[in-house]
Amino acid sequence: SEFQEKSRIVRIESLTPVIHRLTLHAPRIAGQAFPGQFVMVRVSPTFDPLLRRPLSIHQVSSDGTVQLLFKVVGQGTRLLAGMRTGDYLDMVGPLGRGFTLERDEPFCLVGGGMGIAPLYFLAKRLLQISRHPESTVLLGARTGSELLPLEQEFLRLGCPVHSATDDGSYGHHGFVTELLDDLLARVRRVYVCGPFPMMRIAAMKCLERGVACEVSLETHMACGLGACLGCTMMGGDGAYMHVCKDGPVFPAEKVAW
Ligand code: FES
Repeated sequence: SEFQEKSRIVRIESLTPVIHRLTLHAPRIAGQAFPGQFVMVRVSPTFDPLLRRPLSIHQVSSDGTVQLLFKVVGQGTRLLAGMRTGDYLDMVGPLGRGFTLERDEPFCLVGGGMGIAPLYFLAKRLLQISRHPESTVLLGARTGSELLPLEQEFLRLGCPVHSATDDGSYGHHGFVTELLDDLLARVRRVYVCGPFPMMRIAAMKCLERGVACEVSLETHMACGLGACLGCTMMGGDGAYMHVCKDGPVFPAEKVAW
């Protein structure tokens, strides 16, 4: 079940000039949220159009807080970045279908850009039920400065992390999916969130090797509740699916790549 919560901002952090993290007091959402789910955030009551914007849940804590990680890409996220501690945000969530968590399976997380956001929550929950030395986190970003603050957080969880950057300023110079090849023989499940072309490459590699793969799709969402049909996509079998309600997480074989 989902809740609408007027949530107080308890902390705002700028990880880079354009990547920000909000910590909000939203105990009902925090208590129900599952990795891969998202919230609809109404940035401001005066913001036109009066639409909510979907943001994946970056992390929840037992103190009743929810964290959202986002990059400033337009008017909505700019307003969000300009909010202050003590301000309130209207959130509805947790929404959507999240990732499948399997006990005692070696896993690999593949995150690209802001697709890294929900994978932190996932990594935390997975590490509680599955501790395998083979489990690995792969992170990709445009450049090192956007990746380093996030890499630090994953390392603190005690999981090996390998990174790749488009410009070669940090880690492997190239696509993060190039780091996947060596791992596919050792992991049982791959979770991917990032730009569509990146997810397609990762999904193809997993499907070829018979490794279970789940991807988190991003699309325009106006309601987040299955009511507006704005997020409809055709699936691999030709049937239509609502990304907000049937997903945003799908098994790789369900997606029309
Ligand atoms: Fe409205 Fe999915 S966003 S139906």
